[in-house]
Amino acid sequence: MHAVVLVGGFGTRLRPLTNEVPKPMLPIGNVPMIVRLAERLGEGGVTDIVLALGFRPDAFREAFPGDRVGDVRMHYAVEPEPLDTAGAIAFAARASGIDSTFVVANGDIVTDLDIAGLVDAHHRLGVDATIHLTPVDDPSAYGVVETDAAGRVSRFIEKPSPGETDSDLINGGTYVLEPAVLDLIEPDRRVSVERETFPTLVADGRLAGHPTDDRWIDTGRPETYLEANLDLADRADAIHPEASIAATASIEHSIIGAGARIDGEVHRSVVLPGASIAAGATVRSSLVWGHVPADATLDSCVIGEGAEVPAGDHRGLRLPEPG
Ligand code: GDD
Ligand code: MG
Repeated sequence: MHAVVLVGGFGTRLRPLTNEVPKPMLPIGNVPMIVRLAERLGEGGVTDIVLALGFRPDAFREAFPGDRVGDVRMHYAVEPEPLDTAGAIAFAARASGIDSTFVVANGDIVTDLDIAGLVDAHHRLGVDATIHLTPVDDPSAYGVVETDAAGRVSRFIEKPSPGETDSDLINGGTYVLEPAVLDLIEPDRRVSVERETFPTLVADGRLAGHPTDDRWIDTGRPETYLEANLDLADRADAIHPEASIAATASIEHSIIGAGARIDGEVHRSVVLPGASIAAGATVRSSLVWGHVPADATLDSCVIGEGAEVPAGDHRGLRLPEPG
């Protein structure tokens, strides 16, 4: 079975971390997000993954020696220009000759969803497309879904305005599609699966939902990227064996990447590969890929690759500032 994984977005909300590296290549608990996703797809019966890419294909190609993750073969479909979600799915599916039931996954989701279970539900429901649904407290930032008693989707509203729907079930960003869905997607133009293709399928009664209460996080914002990492922060491998941790260091509930150097205090934070925290510095609830000097305190900050934090107390700092 094939899976198309959407990885062509710009990761704007995670800047500056995504200035140099695409979002799905960022680590969660020291393992690139895309590797975790590929492993989960492989466990669910996927043999071939097509990465639907808009930009920076090289960062991905280099990360998969032999174009494999475990037993799963990796392929790359590079759009000439970003075609939006449905455009990217159709472009990748056509480029790789997909002609049977396939999986689609947004590249920025961390979840324990059982892919094989989703595929079984899809066949049982007998529809052309089945989307994984998950409940969230604030659905406004997602695609919100209403279903009927038989599990069919009766309404799909992407990023609803307040009061537009009472449903707290959202599109979890993993789908099972029949190739017939591709016929709905015109080539060579931007098409959104959420705003065009799903509403068309709903109108024809061809879209179903499969709700689960698995752990689920969209890592696209700094708070949620941090949360996905902190979920793993108390495991033995949260501190990478190639990190260097001084005797003066104090680390609490955090992830420390390869080649990071910690001499100061780190609480509930992610320190990415190659970053450094000097003795006398304190870092809280932050994502750090740069260098924090002795006389700095960070709270809820996002520090990009190689950035030098100035001395002083910082709250909510983004460095380099988005320009
Ligand atoms: N190849 C390609 N080309 N990929 C794209 C493009 C494109 O033009 N545009 C977006 N993507 C990819 C992103 O890289 C990401 O993996 C995925 O499509 C979804 O884009 P996001 O920008 O992360 O969307 P979102 O988080 O606001 O909303 C989506 O995900 C939610 C669940 O997390 C929607 O699918 C919502 O309906 C859903 O609830
Ligand atoms: Mg997202």
